[in-house]
Amino acid sequence: MKQICVIGVGYVGLVTGACFADLGNRVVALDMNKKRIENLKQGIMPIYEPGLDELVKRNVKAGRLSFTTSYAEALHGCEFIFIAVGTPSGVNGEADLQYVAAAARSIAQNMTGPLIIINKSTVPIGTGDWVADIVRSAQPKPIPFSVVSCPEFLREGTAISDFMNPHRIVIGSLDKEAANKVAELHLPLRAPIVITDLRTAEMIKYASNAFLATKISFINEIAEICEALGADVKEVAAGMGYDIRIGKLFLDAGLGWGGSCFPKDVRALAYMAKEKALETPILDAAVKVNYRQRKAAVQRTAELLGGSVKGKTIGLLGLAFKPNTDDMRDAPSIDIAHGLIESGAQVRAYDPAAMDAARSILPAVDLFDDPYSMAEGCDALIVVTEWNEFKQLDLERIKSLMRTPVIFDGRNIYDPILMKQLGFTYRSVGRGYNHQP
Ligand code: NAD
Ligand code: UGA
Repeated sequence: MKQICVIGVGYVGLVTGACFADLGNRVVALDMNKKRIENLKQGIMPIYEPGLDELVKRNVKAGRLSFTTSYAEALHGCEFIFIAVGTPSGVNGEADLQYVAAAARSIAQNMTGPLIIINKSTVPIGTGDWVADIVRSAQPKPIPFSVVSCPEFLREGTAISDFMNPHRIVIGSLDKEAANKVAELHLPLRAPIVITDLRTAEMIKYASNAFLATKISFINEIAEICEALGADVKEVAAGMGYDIRIGKLFLDAGLGWGGSCFPKDVRALAYMAKEKALETPILDAAVKVNYRQRKAAVQRTAELLGGSVKGKTIGLLGLAFKPNTDDMRDAPSIDIAHGLIESGAQVRAYDPAAMDAARSILPAVDLFDDPYSMAEGCDALIVVTEWNEFKQLDLERIKSLMRTPVIFDGRNIYDPILMKQLGFTYRSVGRGYNHQP
């Protein structure tokens, strides 16, 4: 059993803390957000993540997981401290490191014994060394410590199983002893462990996210060509995916990537390159294709409605940036809703988990409690997030409720032939002109 502290109780920090506690360690999770910590003490989760509620409650009950806002309390007896605070985009696309810097200073001011500081936040290359400098200069008296990079690769919606079954653990440090201790902490996960230097570990994280984002933009570009030439991108992706050099995953064409990570991390990587006077044509193209998908959704819905959405009522099926999360950070739904509103449409929406988030982010959108009441009187629906609930909709009922049975399926969840048989005017992404109206 190790004594671990996690700084930042968000998507990554809470999952990391709860999972390490479940592996038998003693974990104190700290956040500067008092309300968040008070709620957690009462068993109220700050985020929607399948399985997290039970995991947290089980480990709190067993006395392995606790919450605090006090650095002094969290650091008492702590051997490993994970930094998992946010690193949002700054004004020019750079990663904003103010939260990392504040956490590093607080650690320095409150540590009472030797410590391994593990950076789990996604941070620009060189941040590990910078954090070490901050800690060194903010310590009231010198206490030995080591900074290790251990980037996180979990996905929202499947965060617990991703954490517990990682494809690899990346550990960056030039301090062999510290790296080995961090590796030991992860041994129960039985994953390949890559030990490298700090900067390389930090780069592995950015390169991985940028690659996955580029892969999605690639298939979205192929989707557009498929649509023009009469091929079906879903089958193209499946046919490509059997080649293990390509792989099946992250080849779903649709509305592109959103969320708190791909957009900001691709931008931050491009920013780092530009600071070194390097061009990033591949990253730039991935971004361009990605945001084009959102504009195209508005344009194609207009085409389905005879050329314009002006005066029409459009319902959005889904708001979260992906299923099984309530996260709406840089969700395609935001640009699509704004695009529709700017073109004169009335916009409605329903999401199984993101309604609370949507209330402040999209105040001009009418939110409904279920997809059927939302569909009533709609001129068109757009599938924005591929929640399972939408795959199982009673489409005949939906059709009978709508003013005109028009669907733009931005996530390719329905069968074009079936939709035609049901009498919908239906269009999806990249699925051949034979399937288009
Ligand atoms: P988040 O916004 O959900 O949570 C961050 C938390 O840190 C917040 O609760 C905030 O109050 C707290 N915080 C900020 N400064 C603090 C401080 N000085 N002391 C204590 N608490 C502080 O963020 P997230 O989505 O969990 O992302 C965290 C990091 O992990 C980011 O760098 C992100 O890029 C990376 N990451 C995220 C995911 C993901 O799926 N969300 C996956 C892998 C990596
Ligand atoms: C992503 C990475 O997958 C994680 O490995 C990484 O840890 C995380 O970012 C991070 O650094 O924060 P996440 O953003 O939670 O995880 O979700 P993904 O499943 O990767 O989806 C990202 C976006 O891409 C979503 O908007 C999703 O709809 C879209 N997507 C995904 C597609 O459009 N097509 C696909 O084939 C896959």
